[in-house]
Amino acid sequence: MTKGKHVILCVTGSIASYKAVDIARRLSDSGINVSVVMTDAARQFMSPLAFEAVTRNKVYTNLFDDPLSHVTLPQNADLFLVAPATANTIGKFASGIADEIVSAMFMAFEGTVLIAPAMNEKMFNNPVVQKNIKNLTATGVRFIGPDSGSLACGYEGKGRLADTGEIVEAVISALSPKDLKGKNIVVTAGPTVEAIDPVRFISNRSSGKMGYEIARAASRRGADVTLISGPSPLVPPFGVSFIKVESASEMEDAVSKKFIKCDSLVMAAAVSDFAPSAFSRKKIKKGGLDVLKLRRTPDILQSFGKKKGKKLIVGFAAETGKDIGSAKKKLMSKNLDMIALNDVTQEGAGFNSETNIVTIIDRNGGVSDHPKMKKIEIADIIIDRMLRLWEKGGKR
Ligand code: PMT
Repeated sequence: MTKGKHVILCVTGSIASYKAVDIARRLSDSGINVSVVMTDAARQFMSPLAFEAVTRNKVYTNLFDDPLSHVTLPQNADLFLVAPATANTIGKFASGIADEIVSAMFMAFEGTVLIAPAMNEKMFNNPVVQKNIKNLTATGVRFIGPDSGSLACGYEGKGRLADTGEIVEAVISALSPKDLKGKNIVVTAGPTVEAIDPVRFISNRSSGKMGYEIARAASRRGADVTLISGPSPLVPPFGVSFIKVESASEMEDAVSKKFIKCDSLVMAAAVSDFAPSAFSRKKIKKGGLDVLKLRRTPDILQSFGKKKGKKLIVGFAAETGKDIGSAKKKLMSKNLDMIALNDVTQEGAGFNSETNIVTIIDRNGGVSDHPKMKKIEIADIIIDRMLRLWEKGGKR
């Protein structure tokens, strides 16, 4: 969604300026063309070379090296980010001072501006700084953070640069189309865990990556997203409401609480099909169990498929082989609008990989194969297909 977009990343003189290298790298990894601009004070902390190495672009440091760059660079940029932003730079922006390259570029830029401040908490709480932030906010500038915590100067308080992941997410989100605005989407992810006794359980190899990326992509595109996840080490995407569950029945309860208000349910979770028929409160002794009796768990997708009304319901089919027949059967029997089939035996597909290979089948008979790609890219493709189904008004 953001490939080929151009972001100006301004770095100003703060100890947190080293974190801007990570921001520049992560934006570049997302296919964004990043031009870094540094104040003299920033260069006291960091060398332009570090930014040149991660962005592969020239770093701008002086208003007079290329006298027109403060006008031409902003003309071709989609977003202007300042991270970290000092009290001094924020003050210049708020008062229209343009006496060096960063403030001059800010004056010449007409699009979305994001500012991530970082400074001592007394400086941040200074009424002049607060007034400058208020005035800039009133002109449409958006502030990210700062966070509270221990500061480099030894103080505790509000003034830490916001999490770099949050800053990167805010940039990507601001650059993404808002074609899901007004939609409420529930996404499930990860495995479910069915306890045998206090130490043992039945589960599967799902990491949660596929579902988390769908939640992330939907949120970036403007949807109001609830992510319901089984146990996973992943950090929930910024801006997404998060509900953590363990078992299939907990996941079913969580879905049922959110289902009424949602426009769509996307089930990427690998829900365990079986659970022990009884839970032993005490650890079962070795030799205390020859046969483990199982019961079927609720089929969440099937039960909500029956109540779908006008909601769009999307499932996944995890198969060991490209079994389109079985995926189609799941689509029909669970009353889905769309199903993404992944052959979990293929390299780079299915459980715990960064990529996936899917065949998407929709209720109108549309079938499309998608080669190996990042799970976030698959997520965007699934959302594009959902939008097309919505456009058709659910006609079948
Ligand atoms: O989490 P990752 O490591 O990124 O891996 C991604 C994934 C392989 C888990 C994901 O891409 C995927 O295929 N998810 C669905 C796994 C699965 O349970 O497939 P299934 O064919 O058994 O089930 C079909 C559908 O019914 C699924 O949408 C599933 O969520 C749903 N289901 C299944 C059983 C059950 N009791 N209730 C359900 O709702």
